[in-house]
Amino acid sequence: MDNTNKHLLNFKGYNFLKSLVNIEELEKMEDFEIRDDDVFIITYPKSGTIWTQQILSLIYFEGHRNNTDNIPTMDRAPFLEYNIHNLDYANMPSPRIFTSHLPYYFVPKGLKEEKAKILYIYRNPKDVLISFFHFSNWVVTSKVTDTIDHCLEKFLNGKVVGSCWFDHIRGWYEHRHDFNIMFLSYEDLNKNLRSSVLKICSFLEKELSEEDVDAVVRQATFQSMKSDPRANYEYIINNEIGVRNNDGSFLRKGTIGDWKHHLTVEQNERFDMIFKRSMKKIPLKFIWDINEE
Ligand code: A3P
Repeated sequence: MDNTNKHLLNFKGYNFLKSLVNIEELEKMEDFEIRDDDVFIITYPKSGTIWTQQILSLIYFEGHRNNTDNIPTMDRAPFLEYNIHNLDYANMPSPRIFTSHLPYYFVPKGLKEEKAKILYIYRNPKDVLISFFHFSNWVVTSKVTDTIDHCLEKFLNGKVVGSCWFDHIRGWYEHRHDFNIMFLSYEDLNKNLRSSVLKICSFLEKELSEEDVDAVVRQATFQSMKSDPRANYEYIINNEIGVRNNDGSFLRKGTIGDWKHHLTVEQNERFDMIFKRSMKKIPLKFIWDINEE
Protein backbone atom coordinates (compact mmCIF):
# COMPACT_ATOMS: atom_id res chain seq x y z
CA MET A 1 0.00 0.00 0.00
CA ASP A 2 1.33 3.45 -0.91
CA ASN A 3 0.73 5.57 2.16
CA THR A 4 2.22 8.72 0.72
CA ASN A 5 -0.76 9.56 -1.43
CA LYS A 6 -4.26 9.14 -0.10
CA HIS A 7 -5.71 9.30 -3.60
CA LEU A 8 -3.96 6.14 -4.75
CA LEU A 9 -4.65 2.53 -4.00
CA ASN A 10 -1.83 0.14 -4.68
CA PHE A 11 -3.20 -3.28 -5.55
CA LYS A 12 -0.87 -6.06 -6.73
CA GLY A 13 1.88 -3.53 -7.38
CA TYR A 14 -0.14 -1.12 -9.48
CA ASN A 15 -1.55 2.32 -8.50
CA PHE A 16 -5.28 2.87 -9.04
CA LEU A 17 -7.37 5.95 -8.36
CA LYS A 18 -8.78 5.04 -5.00
CA SER A 19 -12.10 6.86 -5.24
CA LEU A 20 -13.03 5.24 -8.56
CA VAL A 21 -11.90 1.66 -8.16
CA ASN A 22 -13.75 -1.34 -6.74
CA ILE A 23 -11.45 -3.92 -5.18
CA GLU A 24 -13.95 -6.76 -5.50
CA GLU A 25 -14.12 -6.19 -9.24
CA LEU A 26 -10.32 -6.05 -9.46
CA GLU A 27 -10.07 -9.37 -7.70
CA LYS A 28 -12.27 -10.92 -10.38
CA MET A 29 -10.53 -9.14 -13.26
CA GLU A 30 -8.50 -12.12 -14.39
CA ASP A 31 -11.65 -14.12 -15.08
CA PHE A 32 -13.63 -11.34 -16.78
CA GLU A 33 -15.10 -13.01 -19.85
CA ILE A 34 -13.66 -11.80 -23.14
CA ARG A 35 -15.46 -12.04 -26.48
CA ASP A 36 -13.53 -12.52 -29.71
CA ASP A 37 -14.89 -9.25 -31.09
CA ASP A 38 -14.02 -7.16 -28.03
CA VAL A 39 -11.67 -4.27 -28.60
CA PHE A 40 -9.43 -2.78 -25.91
CA ILE A 41 -7.80 0.62 -25.87
CA ILE A 42 -4.81 0.41 -23.58
CA THR A 43 -2.85 3.46 -22.50
CA TYR A 44 -0.75 4.86 -19.72
CA PRO A 45 -2.71 7.86 -18.31
CA LYS A 46 -2.35 11.18 -20.17
CA SER A 47 -1.30 9.54 -23.42
CA GLY A 48 -4.37 10.26 -25.54
CA THR A 49 -6.89 7.87 -24.02
CA ILE A 50 -9.91 10.13 -24.43
CA TRP A 51 -8.89 10.80 -28.02
CA THR A 52 -8.69 7.12 -28.88
CA GLN A 53 -12.01 6.48 -27.16
CA GLN A 54 -13.56 9.10 -29.40
CA ILE A 55 -11.93 7.69 -32.55
CA LEU A 56 -12.96 4.09 -31.89
CA SER A 57 -16.43 5.09 -30.86
CA LEU A 58 -16.82 7.07 -34.10
CA ILE A 59 -15.50 4.14 -36.12
CA TYR A 60 -17.81 1.60 -34.52
CA PHE A 61 -21.05 3.48 -33.87
CA GLU A 62 -22.88 4.95 -36.80
CA GLY A 63 -25.15 6.85 -34.42
CA HIS A 64 -22.11 8.59 -33.03
CA ARG A 65 -20.65 9.39 -36.45
CA ASN A 66 -23.95 10.79 -37.66
CA ASN A 67 -24.88 12.44 -34.39
CA THR A 68 -28.13 10.54 -34.17
CA ASP A 69 -27.64 9.19 -30.64
CA ASN A 70 -26.49 11.25 -27.77
CA ILE A 71 -24.32 9.02 -25.58
CA PRO A 72 -21.14 10.23 -23.87
CA THR A 73 -18.00 8.61 -25.25
CA MET A 74 -17.15 7.54 -21.72
CA ASP A 75 -20.13 5.13 -21.86
CA ARG A 76 -19.42 3.90 -25.38
CA ALA A 77 -15.84 2.92 -24.57
CA PRO A 78 -15.93 2.59 -20.77
CA PHE A 79 -13.00 1.92 -18.47
CA LEU A 80 -12.67 -1.72 -17.53
CA GLU A 81 -11.18 -1.03 -14.11
CA TYR A 82 -13.22 2.12 -13.36
CA ASN A 83 -16.87 1.33 -14.01
CA ILE A 84 -17.99 4.80 -13.01
CA HIS A 85 -21.53 4.48 -14.34
CA ASN A 86 -22.09 0.90 -13.20
CA LEU A 87 -22.68 -0.41 -16.69
CA ASP A 88 -23.53 -4.09 -17.12
CA TYR A 89 -20.37 -5.08 -19.00
CA ALA A 90 -21.29 -8.76 -19.22
CA ASN A 91 -24.49 -7.95 -21.11
CA MET A 92 -23.32 -5.09 -23.29
CA PRO A 93 -24.03 -5.74 -26.97
CA SER A 94 -21.10 -6.66 -29.21
CA PRO A 95 -18.80 -5.27 -30.30
CA ARG A 96 -17.75 -3.98 -26.91
CA ILE A 97 -15.03 -1.35 -26.70
CA PHE A 98 -13.21 -1.14 -23.40
CA THR A 99 -10.60 1.30 -22.23
CA SER A 100 -7.95 0.49 -19.68
CA HIS A 101 -4.77 1.73 -18.08
CA LEU A 102 -3.96 -1.73 -16.71
CA PRO A 103 -0.49 -3.25 -16.99
CA TYR A 104 -0.17 -6.37 -19.15
CA TYR A 105 -0.14 -8.75 -16.18
CA PHE A 106 -3.45 -7.49 -14.82
CA VAL A 107 -5.79 -7.88 -17.79
CA PRO A 108 -8.36 -10.69 -18.18
CA LYS A 109 -6.64 -13.91 -19.19
CA GLY A 110 -9.07 -14.36 -22.11
CA LEU A 111 -7.20 -11.55 -23.88
CA LYS A 112 -4.28 -13.92 -24.32
CA GLU A 113 -6.34 -16.05 -26.67
CA GLU A 114 -5.27 -13.43 -29.20
CA LYS A 115 -8.62 -12.90 -30.82
CA ALA A 116 -9.87 -9.74 -29.12
CA LYS A 117 -7.90 -6.75 -30.37
CA ILE A 118 -5.82 -4.33 -28.35
CA LEU A 119 -4.82 -0.88 -29.52
CA TYR A 120 -1.94 0.42 -27.39
CA ILE A 121 -1.47 4.17 -27.66
CA TYR A 122 1.77 5.60 -26.31
CA ARG A 123 3.06 9.15 -26.04
CA ASN A 124 6.48 10.64 -25.45
CA PRO A 125 6.76 10.52 -21.67
CA LYS A 126 7.98 14.09 -21.21
CA ASP A 127 4.65 15.33 -22.59
CA VAL A 128 2.85 12.70 -20.50
CA LEU A 129 4.56 14.13 -17.43
CA ILE A 130 3.54 17.71 -18.22
CA SER A 131 -0.01 16.69 -19.04
CA PHE A 132 -0.14 14.78 -15.77
CA PHE A 133 1.27 17.75 -13.85
CA HIS A 134 -1.59 19.99 -15.00
CA PHE A 135 -4.23 17.30 -14.64
CA SER A 136 -3.23 16.39 -11.11
CA ASN A 137 -3.54 19.98 -9.99
CA TRP A 138 -6.96 20.28 -11.59
CA VAL A 139 -8.93 17.18 -10.62
CA VAL A 140 -9.67 16.43 -6.96
CA THR A 141 -9.00 12.70 -7.22
CA SER A 142 -5.28 13.46 -7.68
CA LYS A 143 -2.73 14.81 -5.27
CA VAL A 144 -1.60 18.37 -5.95
CA THR A 145 1.92 18.41 -7.35
CA ASP A 146 3.35 21.78 -6.41
CA THR A 147 6.44 21.89 -8.64
CA ILE A 148 7.55 20.15 -11.81
CA ASP A 149 10.57 18.89 -9.89
CA HIS A 150 8.34 17.18 -7.35
CA CYS A 151 6.10 15.83 -10.12
CA LEU A 152 9.12 14.53 -12.04
CA GLU A 153 10.37 12.72 -8.96
CA LYS A 154 6.99 11.04 -8.41
CA PHE A 155 6.66 10.19 -12.10
CA LEU A 156 10.11 8.64 -12.39
CA ASN A 157 9.51 6.64 -9.23
CA GLY A 158 6.09 5.46 -10.36
CA LYS A 159 4.36 7.12 -7.39
CA VAL A 160 1.47 8.26 -9.56
CA VAL A 161 -1.74 6.78 -10.89
CA GLY A 162 -0.75 4.19 -13.48
CA SER A 163 2.53 3.51 -11.61
CA CYS A 164 5.76 3.56 -13.60
CA TRP A 165 5.50 4.70 -17.23
CA PHE A 166 8.58 2.64 -18.20
CA ASP A 167 7.18 -0.55 -16.67
CA HIS A 168 3.84 -0.06 -18.39
CA ILE A 169 5.12 0.31 -21.93
CA ARG A 170 7.93 -2.20 -21.55
CA GLY A 171 5.61 -4.79 -20.08
CA TRP A 172 3.13 -4.48 -22.91
CA TYR A 173 5.80 -4.35 -25.58
CA GLU A 174 7.78 -7.30 -24.29
CA HIS A 175 4.61 -9.40 -24.03
CA ARG A 176 3.18 -8.26 -27.36
CA HIS A 177 3.32 -11.76 -28.82
CA ASP A 178 0.85 -12.96 -26.20
CA PHE A 179 -1.79 -10.57 -27.51
CA ASN A 180 -3.41 -9.34 -30.70
CA ILE A 181 -2.01 -5.85 -30.26
CA MET A 182 -1.12 -2.83 -32.37
CA PHE A 183 1.09 0.00 -31.07
CA LEU A 184 0.44 3.50 -32.30
CA SER A 185 1.76 6.79 -30.97
CA TYR A 186 -0.11 9.89 -29.87
CA GLU A 187 2.32 11.81 -32.06
CA ASP A 188 1.28 9.77 -35.11
CA LEU A 189 -2.32 10.62 -34.40
CA ASN A 190 -1.36 14.23 -33.92
CA LYS A 191 0.66 14.57 -37.11
CA ASN A 192 -1.39 12.36 -39.41
CA LEU A 193 -4.89 11.96 -38.05
CA ARG A 194 -6.46 10.64 -41.25
CA SER A 195 -3.80 8.09 -42.03
CA SER A 196 -3.80 6.98 -38.38
CA VAL A 197 -7.58 6.48 -38.52
CA LEU A 198 -7.07 4.35 -41.64
CA LYS A 199 -4.36 2.30 -39.90
CA ILE A 200 -6.68 1.75 -36.96
CA CYS A 201 -9.55 0.73 -39.27
CA SER A 202 -7.29 -1.73 -41.01
CA PHE A 203 -6.19 -3.31 -37.73
CA LEU A 204 -9.80 -3.51 -36.56
CA GLU A 205 -10.92 -4.87 -39.95
CA LYS A 206 -13.49 -2.10 -40.25
CA GLU A 207 -14.19 -0.84 -43.73
CA LEU A 208 -15.56 2.67 -43.76
CA SER A 209 -16.53 4.75 -46.77
CA GLU A 210 -14.49 7.87 -47.60
CA GLU A 211 -17.31 10.01 -46.19
CA ASP A 212 -17.38 8.01 -42.97
CA VAL A 213 -13.61 8.34 -42.56
CA ASP A 214 -14.04 12.09 -43.11
CA ALA A 215 -16.74 12.17 -40.44
CA VAL A 216 -14.46 10.34 -37.98
CA VAL A 217 -11.54 12.68 -38.65
CA ARG A 218 -13.70 15.80 -38.45
CA GLN A 219 -15.08 14.84 -35.04
CA ALA A 220 -11.75 13.66 -33.65
CA THR A 221 -9.86 16.92 -34.01
CA PHE A 222 -8.81 18.76 -30.86
CA GLN A 223 -11.13 21.69 -31.56
CA SER A 224 -14.11 19.52 -32.32
CA MET A 225 -13.67 17.39 -29.19
CA LYS A 226 -13.02 20.42 -27.02
CA SER A 227 -16.39 21.83 -27.95
CA ASP A 228 -18.32 18.56 -27.66
CA PRO A 229 -19.34 17.84 -24.05
CA ARG A 230 -19.91 14.13 -24.84
CA ALA A 231 -16.33 13.82 -26.05
CA ASN A 232 -14.36 15.95 -23.59
CA TYR A 233 -15.49 14.55 -20.19
CA GLU A 234 -15.97 18.08 -18.91
CA TYR A 235 -19.45 17.29 -17.58
CA ILE A 236 -18.31 14.10 -15.87
CA ILE A 237 -15.21 15.67 -14.38
CA ASN A 238 -17.02 18.79 -13.17
CA ASN A 239 -20.15 17.14 -11.88
CA GLU A 240 -19.31 13.58 -10.95
CA ILE A 241 -15.63 13.59 -10.10
CA GLY A 242 -14.88 17.14 -9.03
CA VAL A 243 -12.25 19.77 -9.77
CA ARG A 244 -10.24 22.21 -7.65
CA ASN A 245 -10.90 25.14 -9.96
CA ASN A 246 -12.67 25.62 -13.24
CA ASP A 247 -9.66 26.76 -15.21
CA GLY A 248 -8.50 23.27 -16.14
CA SER A 249 -9.57 21.17 -19.05
CA PHE A 250 -9.16 17.55 -20.15
CA LEU A 251 -8.31 18.83 -23.61
CA ARG A 252 -5.62 21.22 -22.45
CA LYS A 253 -3.10 21.85 -25.26
CA GLY A 254 -3.10 18.69 -27.34
CA THR A 255 0.32 19.26 -28.80
CA ILE A 256 3.78 17.70 -29.10
CA GLY A 257 6.74 19.12 -27.21
CA ASP A 258 5.01 21.19 -24.52
CA TRP A 259 7.62 19.72 -22.13
CA LYS A 260 10.12 22.19 -23.62
CA HIS A 261 8.23 25.01 -21.90
CA HIS A 262 8.44 23.32 -18.54
CA LEU A 263 11.57 21.22 -18.03
CA THR A 264 14.89 22.77 -17.11
CA VAL A 265 18.07 21.65 -18.88
CA GLU A 266 19.04 19.53 -15.84
CA GLN A 267 15.61 17.93 -15.54
CA ASN A 268 15.66 17.14 -19.24
CA GLU A 269 19.11 15.60 -19.10
CA ARG A 270 18.11 13.47 -16.16
CA PHE A 271 15.00 12.32 -18.01
CA ASP A 272 17.01 11.50 -21.13
CA MET A 273 19.48 9.44 -19.16
CA ILE A 274 16.75 7.36 -17.52
CA PHE A 275 14.85 7.02 -20.79
CA LYS A 276 17.94 5.81 -22.64
CA ARG A 277 18.78 3.28 -19.97
CA SER A 278 15.24 1.96 -19.53
CA MET A 279 14.15 1.84 -23.16
CA LYS A 280 17.22 0.51 -24.92
CA LYS A 281 15.50 -2.76 -25.88
CA ILE A 282 12.28 -1.11 -27.01
CA PRO A 283 12.49 -0.08 -30.67
CA LEU A 284 9.28 1.97 -30.69
CA LYS A 285 9.67 5.35 -32.33
CA PHE A 286 9.23 8.44 -30.16
CA ILE A 287 8.62 11.96 -31.39
CA TRP A 288 9.63 14.74 -29.00
CA ASP A 289 9.05 17.84 -31.09
CA ILE A 290 6.19 19.04 -33.27
CA ASN A 291 8.61 19.66 -36.17
CA GLU A 292 10.18 16.21 -36.05
CA GLU A 293 9.20 13.74 -38.76
P1 A3P B 1 -2.41 17.73 -22.88
O1 A3P B 1 -2.64 17.80 -21.39
O2 A3P B 1 -0.94 17.71 -23.20
O3 A3P B 1 -3.14 18.77 -23.64
P2 A3P B 1 -5.68 11.13 -21.61
O4 A3P B 1 -6.99 11.09 -22.29
O5 A3P B 1 -4.90 9.86 -21.74
O6 A3P B 1 -5.80 11.60 -20.20
O7 A3P B 1 -4.77 12.20 -22.38
C1 A3P B 1 -5.09 13.57 -22.32
C2 A3P B 1 -4.18 14.31 -23.27
O8 A3P B 1 -4.59 14.02 -24.63
C3 A3P B 1 -4.27 15.82 -23.09
O9 A3P B 1 -2.95 16.32 -23.38
C4 A3P B 1 -5.28 16.18 -24.18
O10 A3P B 1 -5.25 17.53 -24.58
C5 A3P B 1 -4.83 15.25 -25.30
N1 A3P B 1 -5.88 15.09 -26.32
C6 A3P B 1 -7.14 14.65 -26.16
N2 A3P B 1 -7.83 14.72 -27.31
C7 A3P B 1 -6.98 15.22 -28.24
C8 A3P B 1 -7.11 15.55 -29.63
N3 A3P B 1 -8.24 15.39 -30.31
N4 A3P B 1 -6.00 16.04 -30.26
C9 A3P B 1 -4.84 16.23 -29.60
N5 A3P B 1 -4.68 15.94 -28.27
C10 A3P B 1 -5.73 15.45 -27.61
